[in-house]
Amino acid sequence: MKWPSIIQRYCSRPPATVKWQGIIERYRSRLPVTESTPVISLSEGNTPLIHAPRFAKAIGLEADVYFKYEALNPTCSFKDRGMTLAVSKAKERGAQVVVCASTGNTSAAAAAYAARAGILSAVILPNGKIAMGKLAQAMIYGAKVLAIEGNFDEALRLVRELGSQPGVEIVNSINPVRIEGQKTAAFEICDFLGEAPHFHFLPVGNAGNITAYWRGYQEYFNDKITTRTPKMFGYQAAGSAPIVENRIIEKPETVATAIRIGNPASWEGAKSAIAQSQGQIDKVTDEEILEGYRLIAQSEGIFAEPASAASAAGIMKAHREGKIPAGSIITATLTGHGLKDPDAAIRVSPNGVTVVPSNLESILKALKL
Ligand code: F0G
Repeated sequence: MKWPSIIQRYCSRPPATVKWQGIIERYRSRLPVTESTPVISLSEGNTPLIHAPRFAKAIGLEADVYFKYEALNPTCSFKDRGMTLAVSKAKERGAQVVVCASTGNTSAAAAAYAARAGILSAVILPNGKIAMGKLAQAMIYGAKVLAIEGNFDEALRLVRELGSQPGVEIVNSINPVRIEGQKTAAFEICDFLGEAPHFHFLPVGNAGNITAYWRGYQEYFNDKITTRTPKMFGYQAAGSAPIVENRIIEKPETVATAIRIGNPASWEGAKSAIAQSQGQIDKVTDEEILEGYRLIAQSEGIFAEPASAASAAGIMKAHREGKIPAGSIITATLTGHGLKDPDAAIRVSPNGVTVVPSNLESILKALKL
């Protein structure tokens, strides 16, 4: 790394002595809060941007790849950035209950922040299609968990209807403050690198996050904090790729349950992010997603849930297609923690578990030592 960017990196970050108090305090002037907004925070944000040279080498890519590891937020996904703001605003407005439809992560975040705010939460989930860790989170944080015999798109339709009830606040990303909170991830990336990357890769489900990142990158560019904006490369799962195919998918399917969505709410936001940044939206198959999932774990020691790995699979595909010039700086969001879906990890792990007798000889034999 060149000296100016090292200096920028440390000068643009808060000094180590400043206590991290979450994204609202860090980026207060860029967010829709006032002095009287109660800040409901779990110290979210400030997640690591992990350099991944072994991943790049494994796929033969001569570029600097960094993973924004959003798994290290308090409920282990990027949703906490939008939720701190959404629940703070709900509290400010005197809401009695927050509601959301979710493929799992939004419900975990909504339930946690609602608990901290002393507000009730109700979450509507597609029955049987939520990774176990996410369900456990919503339950232990005390949400009223309702599972419907329908998919995420149907759950969101019901939530839109619920939103007209008095005292109810919707905390899905159709609530515009969610997007505002999530744009802070782009700020953190630029603050860390001292510049915007050339490319930003991320998984696309309901399309709120790609919309949010693009807004964040544009804001820093317009304020001359950065001198460029990245090309936004979004990836949907092949069985759930409405934006790529330009049609609503009635029965979306994918191993990446977090992005099993057939009619994204922020469809237009994603389209403009892609068009304005001269990026692209594409799809990756479940096999490609799982290959990326294993590779980031086994080449870099980074465990992210399958949906997150769509961004790694996206880098692999874009590189195969010759779309990434050598020397590029690439960032990719790993949206949620691998531990949220341990079943998926166990299912695809190559070595399994070898049961051995409890003595050294058997262990040495099993290890071929
Ligand atoms: N990755 C993960 C782990 C997610 O949970 C989601 C969305 C996405 C990517 C896609 O982000 O929707 O902004 O395009 N999860 C939502 C939920 C739908 O209910 O937790 P998006």
